[in-house]
Amino acid sequence: MDKDKIQSLLGEIVDPSSEKTLKETGGVRYIGIDDDEEKPSVNLIIGLGKDDDQTKAKIRRSIAKVIKIDLGFHGLKIDFELLKKQESILDDDRNIKYIAIASGKGGVGKSTVTANLAIALTRLGKRVGIIDADIYGSSIPTIMDVPVTMPKARDDEKIIPFNKMGVELISTEFFLKKDQPLMWRGPMLGKMLNHFFYDVGWQKDLEYILIDLPPGTGDVAMDIQKLIPECEMLIVTTPHESASHVAVKAGFAAKELKHNIIGVIENMSYLNHAGEQINVFGEGGGKIVADRLGTDVMQTIPIGQPTGENHSIYDMKEEIGVIYLGLANKLIKHYE
Ligand SMILES: Nc1ncnc2c1ncn2[C@@H]1O[C@H](COP(=O)(O)OP(=O)(O)OP(=O)(O)O)[C@@H](O)[C@H]1O
Ligand SMILES: [Mg+2]
Repeated sequence: MDKDKIQSLLGEIVDPSSEKTLKETGGVRYIGIDDDEEKPSVNLIIGLGKDDDQTKAKIRRSIAKVIKIDLGFHGLKIDFELLKKQESILDDDRNIKYIAIASGKGGVGKSTVTANLAIALTRLGKRVGIIDADIYGSSIPTIMDVPVTMPKARDDEKIIPFNKMGVELISTEFFLKKDQPLMWRGPMLGKMLNHFFYDVGWQKDLEYILIDLPPGTGDVAMDIQKLIPECEMLIVTTPHESASHVAVKAGFAAKELKHNIIGVIENMSYLNHAGEQINVFGEGGGKIVADRLGTDVMQTIPIGQPTGENHSIYDMKEEIGVIYLGLANKLIKHYE
């Protein structure tokens, strides 16, 4: 009699405390077989959702039927243990660095920065995940060329994030109905963020999670504050005053919630043309935001289209790809 057979038979037994099979809960913790010729017996450690006497008696009966009657063992010893509380990436010992990318104004390149920064960190050997929390205008799946479909789930029911170029990705868009009215989206986000932290099977040893926030100062920042108070912020703006003005507001909202602002990223800063830098969208926006928020311009990023196959992700050999590697390096240093 081999352990696999016992494992699979016990796996079908339902844990009455969770109504899930032992296979689903991972409740069969140990199987030991004593092959004594006259009195073969089995030793088990079974993990349960609750370990009250009633639950134990019920499951003991089901297990005894399989081991003694169906499989013919003489002896059976069961030790019970309480299954550990559900693991979450919010557990302290995971020590993940959370970085929310905020902007104030839409269209300044927040999602492009999030995706490229995540990929740059991966290129530097870090393990990175993205949470696309931009419920009103999610674009990370498009940028990273991932289909907007419901992700699959593992045997233990954890949602499997998409993996693109080594970056794990989960988006609110995968779980929202396409034509859902915008006003319903905000209140749903808090619940969804909870899911992302507790029910997604992120890779072990994940080091960074970047969160693409919706534009504005909104209530999403408050949800983030409740769940991950240690989350730090990057503020994206363009050099134009209309963008920097709103970015300052977003920054103040973040500060009010006691989030540390790591720095400002000025995107679409200038255009390289014929050996000159042309300030297409004006200049100084990044510095204004940084000064008002008491932080620094961490990076300026010029205007430019990626030359590779993906129209939003820069190759690490192109100028902007190199700039993103530099930004990723600064971020790593920030946490050292
Ligand atoms: N440095 C850049 N040079 C040229 N185009 C850029 C640059 N950064 C972003 N873009 C382009 O600008 C557009 C807006 O970028 P993106 O979608 O990242 O902005 P966003 O702030 O996330 O916008 P939204 O508010 O819609 O979420 C995209 O078409 C993107 O490809
Ligand atoms: Mg966006």
